[in-house]
Amino acid sequence: MKSLSLYERLGKPQDKDKAKRPEISEQKNLSNSELPKEDLQDDTGVVASAFGGKHSSEEMNNDDLQDLKWTIHRRIVDEMTLEEEVLLLQGESAREQIKNIISVYSAREMADNFYNLSRIEKVKLIDDICNELLGLGPLEPLLQNDKITEIMVNGAKKIFIEQEGKLKRTNVYFHDERHLMSIIERIVAPLGRHVDESSPLVDARLADGSRVNIIIPPLSLAGPSITIRKFSKRAMTMKDLVKFGTLNQQMADFLQACVKARLNILVSGGTGSGKTTTLNALSSFVLETERIVTIEDAAELKLQQEHVLPLEARPANLEGKGAVTIRDLVKNSLRMRPDRIIVGEVRAGEALDMLQAMNTGHDGSLTTAHANTPRDALSRLETMVLMAGMELPVRAIRSQIASAIDLILQQARIRDGSRKITYISEVQGMEGDTIILQDLFLYVQDRIDNFGRSVGHFESTGLQPKFLDKFKLNGVEIPHSIFKN
Ligand SMILES: Nc1ncnc2c1ncn2[C@@H]1O[C@H](COP(=O)(O)OP(=O)(O)OP(=O)(O)O)[C@@H](O)[C@H]1O
Ligand SMILES: [Mg+2]
Repeated sequence: MKSLSLYERLGKPQDKDKAKRPEISEQKNLSNSELPKEDLQDDTGVVASAFGGKHSSEEMNNDDLQDLKWTIHRRIVDEMTLEEEVLLLQGESAREQIKNIISVYSAREMADNFYNLSRIEKVKLIDDICNELLGLGPLEPLLQNDKITEIMVNGAKKIFIEQEGKLKRTNVYFHDERHLMSIIERIVAPLGRHVDESSPLVDARLADGSRVNIIIPPLSLAGPSITIRKFSKRAMTMKDLVKFGTLNQQMADFLQACVKARLNILVSGGTGSGKTTTLNALSSFVLETERIVTIEDAAELKLQQEHVLPLEARPANLEGKGAVTIRDLVKNSLRMRPDRIIVGEVRAGEALDMLQAMNTGHDGSLTTAHANTPRDALSRLETMVLMAGMELPVRAIRSQIASAIDLILQQARIRDGSRKITYISEVQGMEGDTIILQDLFLYVQDRIDNFGRSVGHFESTGLQPKFLDKFKLNGVEIPHSIFKN
């Protein structure tokens, strides 16, 4: 690995121009004339106003604290002395001394801007900044904020996040591309990977399991880009999905019965529409007594059952060798005596092996695919099967698909940031050369309210699926009222 300069590793600007401070929250950009004249110094050297501090802890919310952390972090990077820099570069081994440095800078920042935090809050603040300096720099507070679900770095100066389903630009930035590249190195180095002009795109994973994609120039024209899908500490359950309005209770009950009745289910949806989340919630209905093999590119599923064998694909090494594909793993899983095969996402030739598995006794399999409608999902599957390289006639592929897949759940990210299951459709079989789909449940959007939120309702089409015999076969009771409109 190329060794990084001191400046690069700490993200200090190479030129002596101080990085421009972004707008922090307005509360902290007080002009001097607004500040109270009577200031008192507390025992930690932090100045507080005579009125108990301009920013007392009661006044500050989490966002304010994040802003404060980030300001102090930047101040250290901008103002540190050479000795301090040397200590900071020692990393974990000098954690205590680094904390001392941080506390000096924190005290200065708090004095300059009249913060008055409690002692416990100060200790936490210093700990947090320390983690930030030793971790992934400016991204660290975003990674630690559980409300943020996705982080998107578009070059050094533009960082967007997804929070509560909404995309927003943050006031966080890197000093320059070198700083950003140094953080990219920190992400990939522990994995033995390398990013440079000759290998400009990498899929990686952070220590906490978050999924990362990195793409740098010359492929990325906007500068180095990082996309992080954060690993949520707690998997969403079907109950959560009902609570968030992704589907209604009636649909959830139906899906639970479908998983128990060992139907083969495909969750279809666009990027970030919540396919993996729904797949995870569905898999919670698999019985404890079943042996489950999960297959993913980057392990995201969090199954609660005891008897789970998670498999993860592997990219080729630097010499282009050693790749193990999802397809290899699907084929291998058939020799592992699975009761259920759960494939995180089908993208290519593995679709053929998956369909064959579903058609040869491994029913109850679950997977996801990128598609915009249930009909589109079927044609995507067809294309994927062709990618397996077998010269199969289209009709043969369609009839494989029709007999393998029982149910398609279509998931969508609505304009307001919420996720909805927009269709639950049954794959009924073939009529001539066409696969017959029948919608069982739908999301109908009535209007967009004044806040840009989707207002709508879930509807049952009133039609009963043909696969009800599978329910009987597997001893799963389902009240007919569930299909009532
Ligand atoms: N039902 C939901 N309601 C609200 N947010 C959700 C829901 N499902 C998923 N999310 C959020 O959306 C983001 C994407 O979820 P998920 O990884 O499940 O999507 P995906 O469709 O599998 O994405 P990809 O196409 O990238 O694999 C996550 O941050 C997750 O927290
Ligand atoms: Mg996914």
